[in-house]
Amino acid sequence: MFGIKLNKMNDTSIELLNSVTEVAKLDQLLWEILWKSLDLPRDIRDSFKLEGESLEFGAKVDNKLVGGLVANWISHTEVEIRHLAVRSEAHGQGIGTHLVTELLDHVAGQGCTRAHTIARNTTAGFLRKLGFKTATGEPPEHPLFKKYGITFELLEKDLEPRH
Ligand SMILES: CC(C)(COP(=O)(O)OP(=O)(O)OC[C@H]1O[C@@H](n2cnc3c(N)ncnc32)[C@H](O)[C@@H]1OP(=O)(O)O)[C@@H](O)C(=O)NCCC(=O)NCCS
Repeated sequence: MFGIKLNKMNDTSIELLNSVTEVAKLDQLLWEILWKSLDLPRDIRDSFKLEGESLEFGAKVDNKLVGGLVANWISHTEVEIRHLAVRSEAHGQGIGTHLVTELLDHVAGQGCTRAHTIARNTTAGFLRKLGFKTATGEPPEHPLFKKYGITFELLEKDLEPRH
């Protein structure tokens, strides 16, 4: 079964992934970009898993996965962006923006009114450009990340629900 193609911009497509193979490819991509260089174990993502239905988006160029985003429904009106990554060779082409805007458009269509995320300090600026603002609360501290200079920020964005 193929993913649902949500949008196409030049030769880049954003797809909601639903096959086991595609989801496994995204899992590998996330590990390579987000955790491998921090010497974290291959199954580290399991420790970040949330309850609630997850949405997994892939960005493909010429049908090759170059980026992806994982979000979880936290309630009927709220999602958390859990993981977001684009391969370095594809940075700066609007793919990260495209992934986030497709997610927000998709969930707003299902009644979502708020998206939030625990962003790395290295990525918070990217999300602020997309309208995310500092949320209340204490961001988590994680020694395994801190030793690489990575800290976290709580960010949120209100959405206009579209039913
Ligand atoms: C953050 C990331 C997803 C951005 O993806 P991308 O496809 O390169 O982003 P875009 O091309 O859509 O960039 C959109 C804008 O954000 C800016 N931007 C991109 N990455 C940024 C960053 N890390 N910090 C601040 N601004 C950033 C771009 O310069 C661009 O600005 P412009 O509109 O003024 O030209 C990508 O750099 C990435 O995967 N980084 C490593 C993984 C990571 O840290 N993930 C987040 C874990 S919480």
